[in-house]
Amino acid sequence: MSNIAVIGAGAVGTAIAMMLQPTSSVTLLGRQDATRIYDDWETQTQQTIDVQSLTTYQGTFDIIFIAVKTHQLPAVVPHLSRLTHSKTVVILAQNGYGQLDLLADYQAYQGVVYISGEKNGTHVTHFRDRRIHIQRDQYTEQFAKQLANSNLELVLENTIEQTIWYKLLVNLGINTVTALTQDTARVLKRPDIYELCRQLLIEGSKVARACGVSLPNTIVTDIMQIYAGYPDEMGTSMYYDVKNQQPLEVEAIQGYIYRQSQQHHLDTPTLDRCYHDLKQLEPTA
Ligand SMILES: NC(=O)c1ccc[n+]([C@@H]2O[C@H](COP(=O)([O-])OP(=O)(O)OC[C@H]3O[C@@H](n4cnc5c(N)ncnc54)[C@H](OP(=O)(O)O)[C@@H]3O)[C@@H](O)[C@H]2O)c1
Repeated sequence: MSNIAVIGAGAVGTAIAMMLQPTSSVTLLGRQDATRIYDDWETQTQQTIDVQSLTTYQGTFDIIFIAVKTHQLPAVVPHLSRLTHSKTVVILAQNGYGQLDLLADYQAYQGVVYISGEKNGTHVTHFRDRRIHIQRDQYTEQFAKQLANSNLELVLENTIEQTIWYKLLVNLGINTVTALTQDTARVLKRPDIYELCRQLLIEGSKVARACGVSLPNTIVTDIMQIYAGYPDEMGTSMYYDVKNQQPLEVEAIQGYIYRQSQQHHLDTPTLDRCYHDLKQLEPTA
């Protein structure tokens, strides 16, 4: 049986650890030794799970999930050399893209996470979804077989780029407009914000296509349709981060797309302006 670690005892990391625990040996690593109380809305159950300190943990793992926020990744990377062996597989359970550059020394994969939850103090609530998409290859096929009986679904993709970009675009529109207006999904009822969001998706899909990603012609209307189904009071992670004056994952989402646009010399005025405006909302150290 593989020995698995999950780094980041927050909403996603705690949920992954709980989903794997019944069928695997899992260690949840956080900032310090602690206990998390885990509420699962779908099953209406509550359980506890121990967290061990990442900085003092000694031992290696076959598989490591990293579920810290994207801007928290640089502080985690130095610990990996101590926690890995030559065959360890590292899976980034994060939004955004471009973070794999920090993990060039490892067999690392960008996961696309569909797990919805929230951390509040020592409590983590899992709302819905239990899925991570990753690139299919010999390592991940083996890994997916091991997880077949767990509560976490590992979806193997032949072209993960498409799945990554789809989620990037979904995040680009709604995260940007809710963060900039500091309002929930109801803000899309304003015609000017609806149009801003649509324009972001048009520019974002132009960047994706320039990066060689094949997207359906209906991508913009498809995503706007998804947003239309969001409850008015729904916030996004970036909206809550702005409200709580926390660092934003802007470099890994809007910033990544912006940099790709620059590299391909594209004209993306709405994206460029929103990226710079979001940077202004970052808390100062
Ligand atoms: N939550 C969702 O519904 C959801 C859905 C899809 C994707 N995602 C993505 O998943 C990723 C994780 O998000 P999340 O919502 O799970 O964030 P989160 O609840 O804030 O969890 C991150 C956890 O990592 C811990 N951490 C940070 N730096 C650390 C370090 N150096 N050593 C040890 N632990 C450290 C944090 O501890 P502290 O709390 O002490 O800082 C926190 O417990 C993000 O990229 C997010 O965009 C989230």
